[in-house]
Amino acid sequence: MKTTIYYFSSTGNSLIVARELAEKLGETVVSSIPKAINQDIDLSADRIGIVFPVYIWGMPAIVSKFLKKFKNINNKYIFAVATFGGFPAGTLLQVKK
Ligand SMILES: Cc1cc2nc3c(=O)[nH]c(=O)nc-3n(C[C@H](O)[C@H](O)[C@H](O)COP(=O)(O)O)c2cc1C
Repeated sequence: MKTTIYYFSSTGNSLIVARELAEKLGETVVSSIPKAINQDIDLSADRIGIVFPVYIWGMPAIVSKFLKKFKNINNKYIFAVATFGGFPAGTLLQVKK
């Protein structure tokens, strides 16, 4: 089963998580959101993951903007992982919306 993980990371925590997930899942491509945001997004994998840090009780603006590129994903398995310092708040609910 093929997976693409899109990540955003400033200090490296989310990148480590993305890479460890990729290793465990196998057949996974890890792509940077800052790079992918200016290109056509590839949603052809069976599973699409996003990994990012919580910023001010929510998604970083770039992640929120990137998610707007997700179209026709009704039958797609999408997962999200957020790294955080101590207060994740409703970040994953924001992603779901
Ligand atoms: C601007 C900024 C805002 C943050 N806001 C939160 C927050 O609201 N809640 C929280 O638990 N952690 C917060 N953090 C901590 C980060 O989510 C945490 O350190 C994360 O693992 C960093 O991921 P990265 O290394 O991939 O950038 C914030 C960090 C920064 C730099």
